[in-house]
Amino acid sequence: MRTIQWGIIGTGNIASKFAEALQGMEDTSLAGVASRNLEKASKFAKEFGALKAYGSYEELAEATDIDVVYIGTPHTEHLVNAALMIKNKKAVLCEKPFTLNERDSKYLVELAKDNKVFLMEAMWTKFLPTTIQVKRWLNEGKIGIVKKMQIGFGFFNEFNEAHRYFNFNLGGGALLDVGIYPITYAIDLMESNPDKICSMVSKLENGIDEQNCILFQFPGQAIAMLSSAVAVEVGKEALIIGDKGRIRVPNFWKADKAYVYDNEGKLIETYKEADRVNGYEFEAYEVNQCIREGLLESKRVPLKDTLDVMKIMDDLRKEWGIHYPQENN
Ligand SMILES: NC(=O)c1ccc[n+]([C@@H]2O[C@H](COP(=O)([O-])OP(=O)(O)OC[C@H]3O[C@@H](n4cnc5c(N)ncnc54)[C@H](OP(=O)(O)O)[C@@H]3O)[C@@H](O)[C@H]2O)c1
Repeated sequence: MRTIQWGIIGTGNIASKFAEALQGMEDTSLAGVASRNLEKASKFAKEFGALKAYGSYEELAEATDIDVVYIGTPHTEHLVNAALMIKNKKAVLCEKPFTLNERDSKYLVELAKDNKVFLMEAMWTKFLPTTIQVKRWLNEGKIGIVKKMQIGFGFFNEFNEAHRYFNFNLGGGALLDVGIYPITYAIDLMESNPDKICSMVSKLENGIDEQNCILFQFPGQAIAMLSSAVAVEVGKEALIIGDKGRIRVPNFWKADKAYVYDNEGKLIETYKEADRVNGYEFEAYEVNQCIREGLLESKRVPLKDTLDVMKIMDDLRKEWGIHYPQENN
């Protein structure tokens, strides 16, 4: 099978995890890594077995031995970084949120189409075997008709403006960082966008959303109660409630197990994932396969789904009065 040559730009927290996943994959090579600082790139390359280190993102964009670039930079940089790679005919897997807003995401989608390169949001949760199993259970009617979902993703952090979670200039706040997961998960499980949306937000003095609650109503009237936070421990579980039972998914965004209960609360089925490197390999396998097949987007994470979620988040932020400085351009 053709080996896919990856490049990584940005050498932070998530890029390390993604590189670790690539190391554990078949027919996959980490051909190069780029940092804004060559020393950092070299250290990262040594740690994760990358063949080359670049001291700028531009140099990696021009490399001729790279098929696809993983973008692991802060939200605010995705637009410019992804555009650079696309213009240099590189396929792109870009971290979530894809960009700050729908307008910028649409620009990237058009640019990729014009340059005939593959583009995908790194919404890894959709590729987890546990997520696939939960969807299978729902399609089999294991819990009957879905009536309600409760999905939270949030944690407590001390306020620290140096961290991107709290930094307004780096697209900080709960919605774009973690709120995107419950939104995407609910829509994916219901296989529909919501008909109605209402919400509440608590903002910090610097303007970011510390926490939010969002209610979706889907066609057929199922309701999803979604919450996210960067400074409040709101849990990380998804509960999907049907008229015949419920499914519980602990740590749903990185889940490796899920449980089905009947209406009396009796556990009737358990799913446990067999094996993983660290969970990020599943999205990378999808990208490898799409590139081998010459596809320009993934069927599991199509660009339309990414744009739909960006639009929902734009509308919520408009209501909450959250407008990032980069959006003035
Ligand atoms: N899929 C997931 O599970 C997951 C988990 C965490 C984060 N994420 C997403 O991944 C992205 C990065 O998050 P992270 O936690 O890895 O961030 P991080 O640890 O701060 O790393 C970001 C990296 O981006 C580069 N960078 C480029 N421009 C920058 C700037 N202006 N300020 C700071 N760093 C800059 C830096 O690498 P160099 O110095 O080497 O250039 C930095 O190390 C975010 O969009 C986040 O939403 C996804």
